[in-house]
Amino acid sequence: MMSKVDESQRTGANAAAGQAASSPNDDVRRYWDQGACGTYDYIVGSLPALSREWFAQIERHRYAVEPCIPTVAQFETHRGKTVLEVGVGAGTDHLQWARAGAVCYGVDLTQRAIETTRAHLALHGLSSTLQRIDAETLPFPDATFDVVYSWGVIHHSAHPEQIVREIRRVLKPDGLFIGMVYARHSLVAFKLWIKHALLKGRPWTSWADLVANHMESPGTKAYTVAEVQQVWSGFSSCETQQIVTVYDCSWFPRWMHRLFPDSWGWFIVVRSRK
Ligand SMILES: C[S@@+](CC[C@H](N)C(=O)[O-])C[C@H]1O[C@@H](n2cnc3c(N)ncnc32)[C@H](O)[C@@H]1O
Repeated sequence: MMSKVDESQRTGANAAAGQAASSPNDDVRRYWDQGACGTYDYIVGSLPALSREWFAQIERHRYAVEPCIPTVAQFETHRGKTVLEVGVGAGTDHLQWARAGAVCYGVDLTQRAIETTRAHLALHGLSSTLQRIDAETLPFPDATFDVVYSWGVIHHSAHPEQIVREIRRVLKPDGLFIGMVYARHSLVAFKLWIKHALLKGRPWTSWADLVANHMESPGTKAYTVAEVQQVWSGFSSCETQQIVTVYDCSWFPRWMHRLFPDSWGWFIVVRSRK
């Protein structure tokens, strides 16, 4: 059996070797460290990484497949406001906040996302205060920001409700949260069920488990609108809008797309006042 002294020596040795203690988001970080979100080969082809054309192609693709983003974010209406983006990814939306004249702050779990975003803004002569941190603990004083924005991020964390609490804390009184989380009752989740449950002879598998095990980083969550309202219940208001996306519509012929009601969509957009 290892004595207390041996144990503390071992801990000290680990610290000296630079081994950080494990955190619940280690697997999530490892997943997103493989490549900043939205920079996949099928989008950028053989364009040189971090080049102007590479970023331009990522930006074109992003707003072609998710045209709701500018409508929801209304970047240009927040000129001069202090904006924090949680989960900057490749920095495409962050660039829009900076272009719109916001005072920008951005955080992400991965160094790769932070460096990609910094390079992206620098190409346009813009900058932001960027930090690699886990957003479950935001390193900002209470009531710092006019706007907190987070697109497709919160549901990836081990404790999403802790991120939402932190966002509320760092928002100024009456500050605005704008973001998007995934919807469980959606065509995307239904397609996961067909592929990974029905066709594998396990039709009883829950949609929550399917999203956790087969959607991007390990442990991804997806919500109902009622659950979103519950998670954001600490805010004074919370408007939600479910949206059918391109990701819901793949597999189905084009003529069918307009038959899908928004209540089958993969995105739940949230606008919430502190
Ligand atoms: C699906 S990508 C979205 C990135 C960007 N918002 C976009 O729409 O392209 C998810 C991002 O969230 C980040 N992320 C996940 N969990 C996080 C956490 N707990 N704190 C900070 N960032 C996190 C990941 O590193 C990744 O960059």
